[in-house]
Amino acid sequence: MDKLLIEGGARLSGEIAISGAKNAALPILCAALLTTEPVTFTNVPRLNDIATLLRLLEQMGVKVSREADVVTLDASGVDNPVASYEMVKTMRASILVLGPLVARFGEARVSLPGGCAIGARPVDQHIKGLQAMGADVKVEHGYVHAKVPKLKGARIFTDMVTVTGTENLMMAACLADGETVIENAAREPEVVDLANCLVAMGARISGAGGDVIRIQGVAALHSATHRVMPDRIETGTYLCAAAVTGGDVRLTGTSASYLDAVIDKLMDAGCDITTERDAIRLKAPQRLNAVSLRTAPYPAFPTDMQAQFMAINAVAEGTAVIRETIFENRFMHAVELQRLGADIKIDGNTAFVKGVARLHGATVMATDLRASASLIIAGLVAEGETTIERIYHLDRGYEKLESKLAALGAKVRRLS
Ligand code: UD1
Repeated sequence: MDKLLIEGGARLSGEIAISGAKNAALPILCAALLTTEPVTFTNVPRLNDIATLLRLLEQMGVKVSREADVVTLDASGVDNPVASYEMVKTMRASILVLGPLVARFGEARVSLPGGCAIGARPVDQHIKGLQAMGADVKVEHGYVHAKVPKLKGARIFTDMVTVTGTENLMMAACLADGETVIENAAREPEVVDLANCLVAMGARISGAGGDVIRIQGVAALHSATHRVMPDRIETGTYLCAAAVTGGDVRLTGTSASYLDAVIDKLMDAGCDITTERDAIRLKAPQRLNAVSLRTAPYPAFPTDMQAQFMAINAVAEGTAVIRETIFENRFMHAVELQRLGADIKIDGNTAFVKGVARLHGATVMATDLRASASLIIAGLVAEGETTIERIYHLDRGYEKLESKLAALGAKVRRLS
């Protein structure tokens, strides 16, 4: 298994381009299942999660062609509306095929994702929404089996804000009879990007980006071309990496407008940030101030940036209180950061991080995607060498990670 070796101490500076957003690309690629016409997507990042989803779509009969960041999907020949456990277990987002399959074929069998490192993560809201739209849904032998002659528009109120739940139900509603209203909808920019793609394909959607989304079902969707939005979490991760090293970087192909909560915290930490229409420049002080935060659905502080901020707080001046409200088990990076010398105490869903003057390189283990990012950030400032094991998690979500870090002057290499 690959490892990443980081020699700490280099100050990051320079310019890199941000890739397309993984969490936007995943639902958007699934949207191709809704039509018999080919759909083309640009700015699709080259990541293991995307490759996994494309394999799953191929298994169903979708014709996939990819050249650089352009992916064209033709779902006219889909003959197998099934997502097997073997695929779904490696990537929970595979559940995003459920809504489109039921909408177009009136039937789908999708494996339950099962547990994952950051918590139980059930899909009950996805199921509840499809049932409200008239589907007969059974959970048997580890699979969700949904069947319906034709979905009907419905009023759906999700018990909590769920990103992929909102996306699944929005896609399903595109081909339903009549109007669907999703209340308590996720407002994440990735939901808006998916809605824009669906509208380009002929869907009738209003309200995406707010907490009530209305979808008027149409008879069929058609061919379209859509550019995937920039990855706001990748952007935030590189901002943190630059900030912790006292760096000065410019990130292009991205936008600060999706990152208000994160940029606000980085400015509180002492960074100077200037934004252009599609670029962000960050200049960091010698040492950051500690910044407390609480994760919550968009537009509040994203749970996917919590681990990275724990890493920057580990070496900041002062003590930060970090509260995680989305996932019940998302502090596994804390013990690994402690191995590097961080002073972190956990009490339930709250972490108390007292900044230390220096971290020291050690061997640590990545436990999930964003936890891995926090270990890289810590490794960049730790004295000596940090070895990060199990970096396959990083390959799921960060395109060209080492080359982007190296372009900014980090001393990093991969050992196979
Ligand atoms: C998405 C993101 C993930 C991010 C998360 C929260 C993708 C592919 N992944 O994950 O990176 O960390 O949003 O911003 O976009 N829940 C239920 N029942 C459900 C659905 C969700 O109880 O049916 C709970 C979850 O366990 C969790 C919370 O709701 O506690 C939010 O989860 P959700 O927004 O659904 O996360 P994902 O969409 O899986």
